[in-house]
Amino acid sequence: MDWNIMIERAWESREHAYAPYSSFAVGAAVESSDGGIFGGCNVENLSFGLTMCAERVAIASAIAAGGKSMRRVVVVADTRTPVSPCGACRQVMAEFGVQEILLCNRSEQILFRLDELLPRSSAGILDR
Ligand code: THU
Repeated sequence: MDWNIMIERAWESREHAYAPYSSFAVGAAVESSDGGIFGGCNVENLSFGLTMCAERVAIASAIAAGGKSMRRVVVVADTRTPVSPCGACRQVMAEFGVQEILLCNRSEQILFRLDELLPRSSAGILDR
């Protein structure tokens, strides 16, 4: 499957962003290993630390629908430079086997491997 379906889903999901505090709407889409596509948007809270990023909302949606692992993630925002996932989202992507992440704004797309964005994501953890 090409990236375009995922990119479209991410922009659609962004329309649902709940971002009254930052006014910064983000959309995401993930592809699960069985080919399902799941969207997500950021969901903010008055208690700022409870905010959920679009990427993690999309991943949680895929898991809730029975997905076991994910190959690809698209992130979109209307920014000058394509938006980059936060560290927490990178770690959650690693948890579920994401390999490629496409970062998009209205005019530009940058493709990364997860190991470029988060090297050694699980090295040594619980390894006693
Ligand atoms: N945000 C995301 O949803 N994904 C990202 O990759 C970057 C940041 C959200 C969190 C918060 O609602 C707003 O963008 C500003 O940080």
